[in-house]
Order: sequence, then structure tokens, then C-alpha cells
Amino acid sequence: MVDNSAALIARIEQLKREKGAVILAHYYTPAEVQQVADFLGDSLALSVKARDIEAPVILFAGVNFMAETAKVLSPDKRVLIPVPEAGCSLAESCPAEAFAAFKAKYPDHKVVSYVNTTVGVKALTDICCTSSNALQVVESIPREQPIIFAPDRNLGSHIARLTGRDNIVLWDGACLVHEEFSLPKILQLKEQYPEAKVVVHPECPREIVDVADYAGSTAGILKYCGECPSREFIVVTEAGILAEMRKRYPQKHFIPAPPKGSDGCNECRDMKLITLESIVRCLENESPEVTMDEQVRLAAERSILNMVAVKG
Ligand code: 13P
Ligand code: SF4
Repeated sequence: MVDNSAALIARIEQLKREKGAVILAHYYTPAEVQQVADFLGDSLALSVKARDIEAPVILFAGVNFMAETAKVLSPDKRVLIPVPEAGCSLAESCPAEAFAAFKAKYPDHKVVSYVNTTVGVKALTDICCTSSNALQVVESIPREQPIIFAPDRNLGSHIARLTGRDNIVLWDGACLVHEEFSLPKILQLKEQYPEAKVVVHPECPREIVDVADYAGSTAGILKYCGECPSREFIVVTEAGILAEMRKRYPQKHFIPAPPKGSDGCNECRDMKLITLESIVRCLENESPEVTMDEQVRLAAERSILNMVAVKG
């Protein structure tokens, strides 16, 4: 199997050169997929990279809303997605039609949407955010201006708590992976590893965020683990991030928090659908490719560029 991986990786490198393609990958993809990435990052870094990239072809190793975001920002490039059916429970918890009806109930509200949304929801959004910049995005809006925050109720209520704002209406969506962490199991790990710091993604429910030493995006968590003098960390986010943690900080010990139903790692099934084989096929065929309606793209682009402007 190792030999097979090596051959697939060599083939991918050859195809990248032939096709002028770059691979963007999220930290939650399998470790061997992360190995072939030209850029590995969290949602925010990947959005910015997709906008700035010069190569004519982008292959997006991630779930479908991420590839869509890349296409919105790079309409003149071909954006390939190896497994288009790799979706996101959070994005799926907010269908555009239902969201339009919800939005109509709050005509004086500005819409802030987490980037984990379909292009249709982004088109209904004033400004996107990711978990890296949600606080800055909300703070960029005048305090007296009421806000709809979608689709993640956990991230939205976390930001409402941090800002002390009581004028944020939440869409009732969540990520099924981050909802699955078990507080009793985390508390048990804390007892077992009393020196360990607990790092948590804010897509987790409040009772989990409340036991965190640090809560932030995947990029934020990686940075914290590097800067914090502690040598042990209980990691409460999708387990794909462990590959990058162990690569960057080999002298530190990372303990994955398990989900409620098992003692194994908590994984995003959709992110794990991306394989080296699917990347080879996709580059060879230059398909599947992301396409979208230009009007919807333009509306979605505005909300993403508004976000990127806040970050910059
Ligand atoms: P970030 O990349 O913003 O940390 O988000 C995590 C996530 O769930 C992506 O699907
Ligand atoms: Fe979506 Fe959750 Fe998977 Fe991220 S971890 S892609 S939010 S389902």
C-alpha cells in the first residue's frame, strides 16, 4: 500500500506539471492527500489563496462548498473537485430557499454567514466569515446594527458571547462532526493528562468550548499549540489536523478527543472521501469541474470579498 501511495503521489506531481494545476487542501483531508497539496490551510487561508493563485487550474481537495468558494473567487480558472459529493453537514443544514424565507423575516438585519455555506446562501449574505475572522467580521459591523448569523448556531452564539451583543439572530444549524464530541470523555482525558491544554474548534457546543484553554479555527489552534509552552494537548476538532500538528511540533504530544459513540478519533466522513486515487482521476480527466450561474457567483463574490477586506 505504501508503494501504491508513492506511485500515486508521483503520478499526481507529474499531472500537476502537465496541466499547470495547483492543489489546495484543507487540514481535515487524509494525511496522504495533505502531502500532495501545494497549499494546505484552514478555510480562510484557502479562500485567500484561491483568489490570489495564478495557475490556470485549481484542484480543491476538500468538501464541495470549499471548491465552490474557489470558483467564486477565480471565475477564469478551471476549478476541479475530485469528489463533488463530498458535502458538509453544516452547509447542508442551511438550504438557500429556506434561508431566503428566514432572512425576509428580518429585513433590517445584516447577514453574516460562515463560509461553510452553499453559493446560494453566500449570494444572500452581506459578509462571509470563517472561524478565523468571525469576531473581526462581526466587530466590523456597527454595534447597533442587528445581525443574522448563519448557519452555525455554535459559532454564532460563541461570537455573541465574545462581543456581548444581544442583537444577533442565529440560524439553527450545526456541524455533525463537532456536535459529536463528548464532554465526559474530554473531562476524563483532562484527568488522565492533567498538564494538557484543551484546544477546541468553536463549531463545538458551548459546554465543550467552556472547558477550552483555547478556542479557535484550525489555523488558530495550530498556532496556539506552537506558541504555548505546554507539551500536551487534548485536541477537540476533526482528527485530520493531527497530521499537521505532529509534523510541525514533533516533540509535543497530541491527544485526539473521541466522539460520543466510540473511543476512536472524530472524523469528517466527507473530508475522508478525498483520496489520492480520486485526485489522479480528476487531474487525468480534468473533471469534475465546478460551474455556477454567473449572477449567483457575482452576488456570492461580493460577500466573500467583503470578508477578505476585513481580514486584510
Ligand atoms: P476552519 O478551516 O475555518 O477552521 O473550519 C473548519 C471546518 O469545519 C471546515 O469545514
Ligand atoms: Fe462540514 Fe463539519 Fe466536515 Fe467541516 S467538519 S466540512 S463543518 S461537516
